[in-house]
Amino acid sequence: MNDAKMSQTEKLPCLFVIFGATGDLASNKLLPALFELENAGRLADNFSIVAFSRREWTTDDWLEHLREILKNRIDQSFPEGVLERFFARFRYQQGDLNDIESYRVLAAGLAPGSACSRTVFYLAIRPADFVAVIRNLKAAGLNEPRGMNRVVIEKPFGEDLESAQVLNRLLHQHFDEEQIYRIDHFLGKETVQNLLVFRFANTLIEPLWNRNFIDHVQITVAESGGIEKRAGYYDRAGALRDMLQNHLMQLLTVVAMEPPPALEADALRDEKVKVLRSIRPIAKRAIHAHAVRAQYTHGNIDGQVVAGYQQEDNVERDSITETFVAAKFYIDNWRWRGVPFYLRTGKRMPKQNSMIAIRFKHPPQQLFRETPLEWIAPNWVLLSIQPEESMHMEIHVKQPGLDMNTRVMQMNASFLKTDEQALDAYEALLLDVIEGDRSLFIRFDEVEWAWQVIDPILKHWVVEREYIPTYPAGSWGPAEANRLFDNDDQTWRNEL
Ligand SMILES: NC(=O)c1ccc[n+]([C@@H]2O[C@H](COP(=O)([O-])OP(=O)(O)OC[C@H]3O[C@@H](n4cnc5c(N)ncnc54)[C@H](OP(=O)(O)O)[C@@H]3O)[C@@H](O)[C@H]2O)c1
Repeated sequence: MNDAKMSQTEKLPCLFVIFGATGDLASNKLLPALFELENAGRLADNFSIVAFSRREWTTDDWLEHLREILKNRIDQSFPEGVLERFFARFRYQQGDLNDIESYRVLAAGLAPGSACSRTVFYLAIRPADFVAVIRNLKAAGLNEPRGMNRVVIEKPFGEDLESAQVLNRLLHQHFDEEQIYRIDHFLGKETVQNLLVFRFANTLIEPLWNRNFIDHVQITVAESGGIEKRAGYYDRAGALRDMLQNHLMQLLTVVAMEPPPALEADALRDEKVKVLRSIRPIAKRAIHAHAVRAQYTHGNIDGQVVAGYQQEDNVERDSITETFVAAKFYIDNWRWRGVPFYLRTGKRMPKQNSMIAIRFKHPPQQLFRETPLEWIAPNWVLLSIQPEESMHMEIHVKQPGLDMNTRVMQMNASFLKTDEQALDAYEALLLDVIEGDRSLFIRFDEVEWAWQVIDPILKHWVVEREYIPTYPAGSWGPAEANRLFDNDDQTWRNEL
């Protein structure tokens, strides 16, 4: 290893502590992603992992649990020795998040002279426990050395503007901003990063990316699943807080931002903040015209009958928590003034489907008026984020034959070749945390402005508690969502 490479490796954290190692997020995302990084040879030799949780387990018990978890969640065709090398990195620590003693034990393992003094603390725990962990990390001196130890915070960051500000003040009392990684895993998805390349590396696209050519933008994150075992959290949060304030707003900023002067963390985030600051505030009297909420009732998905939201375990029978939200925003700047951005997300929709759909305007000249072509459908650019990551452009071509008829052709630009596999978002993001690249993590002003945008809707819905529209599970949401459209020829785009 040359000197430059050696000093770079020495600066990387060599300990990764997962608070909440037995939880859903750790099992479904973090541990499989860490394994894939191991398999790809991206974890340094001296990198070790502490699985912290409250169960009275030994490290051997933990490894048994880990083996079970990985069994169903990773491709089993990895080279010999990889699993053993991965297992050897782990130590299990039993502890209570609220007990300072647990943190002292953790700190003792990191004392000067021990193998490692630079650490990532991943808070894969309920948001209600964030405050206790931040305070206890500080009390045990684990926030030092400043600028080196890192803390990763999962969404949701606060439950409204005020609580986000309080949480952030607490974080900043004990950690420098460079130490804080606010994660939004949508930003780790290849399509989202590819959107930056698509927009800024193709001269063909960028000149059209504005109010002169674009009619409107739709961002959909549809989930076919329900709330699973997360009723305790979800019933307090709802779709607006759980999805729209973070994932959908982040997607909106990447679609709408200006090109940054450089692909550096702060340059990128400055541009995203400018977008959020330019979103037209929604006046109280206009909430109804700008936002729709709804809740699923029982229905049918893929031939299976599924229960309504109020019949889910641990949900109040008269809950009016929204499981669907659709909203319309305008970005009042030179590029986007007058172009509606329609955002929607819901649970128990017909299928898993996340996409950004950009509809272009009708051609200005009715050149084909005197031909059998009565109406030409506008062009679309579609960016599929989930389940497949791909890009599609719909353009018109003439149909072969004697008459002047057209048909729509999709130009498909899947950025994966057939023999390539997509990276999971968490793999990319965990590597960024380890390597100290914060470009795809969220700065506090982004969180704060995103809350500013949705706060009027939240406040309005908190007091309007008598009624919520419904939609049957397995449908694309309530009919009310159509009232957001500015023009009759705008409709929700559900499929690629
Ligand atoms: N689940 C997802 O897919 C997902 C997706 C995106 C973001 N997130 C975010 O990720 C975070 C974690 O969510 P999750 O779904 O993984 O939560 P979870 O399944 O409830 O897991 C919480 C973890 O914390 C542990 N824990 C709870 N109280 C503790 C205590 N007093 N002392 C020690 N350990 C304690 C639990 O241990 P036990 O196992 O013993 O209960 C469990 O390991 C949340 O902020 C969530 O919003 C989750």
